[in-house]
Amino acid sequence: KYKACLFDLDGVLVDTAIYHFQAWRTLGKQFDFELSHEQNEELKGISRVESLDKILHWAQFQATQEQKDIWLKEKNETYLELISHMNPSEILPGVLTFLKQLKDQGYLIALGSASKNAQIILEKTGLITWFQAIIDGNKVTKSKPDPEVFLKGVEALACSPADCIVFEDAQAGIDAAKAGGMKVVGIGSSAILFGADKIIPSFNDIQVSDLLLL
Ligand code: G6P
Ligand code: MG
Repeated sequence: KYKACLFDLDGVLVDTAIYHFQAWRTLGKQFDFELSHEQNEELKGISRVESLDKILHWAQFQATQEQKDIWLKEKNETYLELISHMNPSEILPGVLTFLKQLKDQGYLIALGSASKNAQIILEKTGLITWFQAIIDGNKVTKSKPDPEVFLKGVEALACSPADCIVFEDAQAGIDAAKAGGMKVVGIGSSAILFGADKIIPSFNDIQVSDLLLL
């Protein structure tokens, strides 16, 4: 029934939100702003540039483009240092078993992430070997909820949207998948994720055979 699965990275395959949180908190010291956990949740699936704009809005801080460019670079340097220590133990529960099932049953597998650091995270965790196509923040011009990242993944796999299932932890990503005409499985809580075809707490709660019911 379906040919391919497209995975978001952050919050779906690995939990990098903690590193984004630390890096934004470190940056926030420069303009006296302490990002809260609730605010960090709102940055999931949102590009780096848009994240900084949101943070500056919360901090009620007006910055020039020049200053923003410096801060974006600094934030990413902190983030790169944090993720440089990542390893396979940080792959989220059930992910490897699920990927293996997919491969054994002939599904194609692609990545659809807003992150410009996706490649290095996939390498550090060893996940990279599972993917037939990798579409990341360097390959798109429009961020989620625009469907571009997933449509490019579908194209790279030579599939059509109706053949594909997207796995997402962020509302912007669920909206992107739906806008692209794909089925979508939300990872997380049905209390905060809307519009998905199915919601699961983690990959321990799904089998590849369940996909046929979507
Ligand atoms: C993912 C994360 C976001 C992050 C974005 C860009 O979507 O969920 O929190 O802002 O990627 O990540 P980057 O690694 O390019 O800064
Ligand atoms: Mg995510």
